[in-house]
Amino acid sequence: NWKMSDFIEEKINEIRKVVGNDKVILGLSGGVDSSVVALLLDKAIGKNSIPIFVDTGLLRLNERQEVEENFRKLGIDIVVVDAKERFLNNLKGVEDPEEKRKIIGHTFIDVFYETSMKLLEKYGNIKYLAQGTLYPDIIESKVSERKAAAKIKTHHNVGGLPEKLPFKIIEPFRYLFKDEVRKIGKILGLPDEMINRHPFPGPGLAVRIIGEVTNEAIKILQHADHIFIEELKKNDLYDKVWQAFAVFLPIRSVGVMGDYRTYDNVIALRAVNSYDGMTADWSKLPHEFLNKVAKRIVNEVDGVNRVVYDITSKPPATIEWE
Ligand code: XMP
Repeated sequence: NWKMSDFIEEKINEIRKVVGNDKVILGLSGGVDSSVVALLLDKAIGKNSIPIFVDTGLLRLNERQEVEENFRKLGIDIVVVDAKERFLNNLKGVEDPEEKRKIIGHTFIDVFYETSMKLLEKYGNIKYLAQGTLYPDIIESKVSERKAAAKIKTHHNVGGLPEKLPFKIIEPFRYLFKDEVRKIGKILGLPDEMINRHPFPGPGLAVRIIGEVTNEAIKILQHADHIFIEELKKNDLYDKVWQAFAVFLPIRSVGVMGDYRTYDNVIALRAVNSYDGMTADWSKLPHEFLNKVAKRIVNEVDGVNRVVYDITSKPPATIEWE
């Protein structure tokens, strides 16, 4: 681990030297990568680092509150922007996955741009934008650029934002893999629950709601997903899978509840094992466990009467459904 501490010290010195007395803004998603960047910047330049967290309304249940709470505990101030209405409005009536990704990407850039311009007006000396870009992000986005014609889905983290903003880019982790960033986070004192959080896509729950994103679908999905994740943690399985989540399907199916016929929504559960997300195997979760999760979801989430489990690997499927 001494290598990682050397890396950290080197990066801290480098950031101090580059930034001087100017300020750096940073897009904070609450995930490992951007959280560790925020922590590193805090160690390097303290209050001259300004993390910005955009609440897209497409986050997991209570996610915004958890991020606020975690950073409060770390003693790091963050700027929180509530853009829920804006994202939902822009997504109204849109069903195509690529279209959704594009709209979310553009909306995010607009919101982030406006926020950073306000901060620039307030402080004057913001000169840099830090990003938690990792090596696989760069590879995947190059691949999707090349294969855009072949309709490989786009990841929007890397492109778009920097070009529009009048800031220079700082990417301290651009040659690192996720497990290395986790090690750095651990050394810098990021709580385990944040270090070991499963990856979460930029477009959030929008790519886990197949078809149109509605308020109702978001609520149902957040609740079902929360039950799945809670049970994984309770049963000591959360850290044994690389990523797990629920998906809201745009179909209804017939069921029976007591003496009544129901006609309700279907939730799919997805859990995978992977090293870097580029390939993945579906997780062989115990049947009794899946049984318990399915029962809880159907009993506790209004509007859901059926739960299915995804048993495809990547390739040929992708991890997300959109
Ligand atoms: P796929 O679905 O392409 O996902 O097999 C591979 C990994 O990437 C995550 N993912 C994204 N992450 N922005 C992100 O930051 C995105 O647009 C995006 N799309 C997918 C996905 O959750 C999985 O971990």
